[in-house]
Amino acid sequence: MKEAKVILITGASSGIGYDAATKLAQQGHCVYAAARRLELMEPLKALGVKVIRLDVTDETSIQQCVETIIQAEGRIDVLVNNAGYGFFGAIEIVPMEEARRQLEVNLFGLARLTQLVLPQMRKQGCGRIINTSSIAGKMVIYMGGWYNVTKYAVEAFSDALRMEAKPFGIDVVMIEPGSIKTNWGIIAAQHLKESSGGTAYEESGERWADNIDWFYKTNLLSKPTVIAKAISRAVNRRHPKARYRAGRFSHVGVAVHALIPARWWDALMRKLGKIHVSNTKRLQL
Ligand SMILES: NC(=O)c1ccc[n+]([C@@H]2O[C@H](COP(=O)([O-])OP(=O)(O)OC[C@H]3O[C@@H](n4cnc5c(N)ncnc54)[C@H](OP(=O)(O)O)[C@@H]3O)[C@@H](O)[C@H]2O)c1
Repeated sequence: MKEAKVILITGASSGIGYDAATKLAQQGHCVYAAARRLELMEPLKALGVKVIRLDVTDETSIQQCVETIIQAEGRIDVLVNNAGYGFFGAIEIVPMEEARRQLEVNLFGLARLTQLVLPQMRKQGCGRIINTSSIAGKMVIYMGGWYNVTKYAVEAFSDALRMEAKPFGIDVVMIEPGSIKTNWGIIAAQHLKESSGGTAYEESGERWADNIDWFYKTNLLSKPTVIAKAISRAVNRRHPKARYRAGRFSHVGVAVHALIPARWWDALMRKLGKIHVSNTKRLQL
């Protein structure tokens, strides 16, 4: 590695963020790992990672996080906007406050952190903003409507920012994970089950929730280290790509979505939604 960079990574208490913080610290970078659950990031301290409390829906928390790093290090080279979650459920029944909350975490938190690091990066004449998007920002998943909205928005936000930031020496990179074995799927399935109960979508929602829950407990998914590697490339490459797509089903999913007519995609999704995991459990995957 040529030079150690000062890196802030959000959503570092589990899954992709945790593995990315580990990898970047092992490479000798000065890593600030941020999330709400400090206790889960405690083991990272042994690698020299600095742990910082951050709620991306709280303006004071966001400001304090960025100020702490700039005061301590005098610079910030990389922001990895990774915090995020999925609240699955049919559009008709997901409460608007839940939809807004998901946008607060997945989009506005990321946007606010970006606004606060940009002046420092402009002053330095260099910097890198890496946003964890998803293949869900490229293809709509059954009952994932609001989550898709947040990730499509992250894609548009990042594409716009890349053009604006380039003249200041700042690169903007998107990470587009496919299916990655983290708590994300378990959380999305829980939300889907909760929101569907007692509604017209109860049967289809519960079946789909069972399928997601089952899928995320199998070994059909990629490990989060696969995405940590993509984030490491985005951090370390002299000329990073605009997007790094990685992880199980990412390339094939996006390619099929782009190739087939919209109604075929709808039919495919609804067909998947009709299969119930109880019929596939015997596969022992
Ligand atoms: N797993 C997948 O299949 C997959 C696929 C595509 C994209 N992604 C994206 O990858 C990113 C990381 O997800 P993951 O799979 O690693 O899931 P995860 O293990 O559930 O991690 C999510 C992280 O987000 C943080 N977070 C959630 N709400 C937050 C808030 N209000 N403030 C600050 N941090 C918050 C959590 O920390 P605290 O709860 O401690 O705050 C946690 O560290 C997300 O943006 C997700 O949408 C995941």
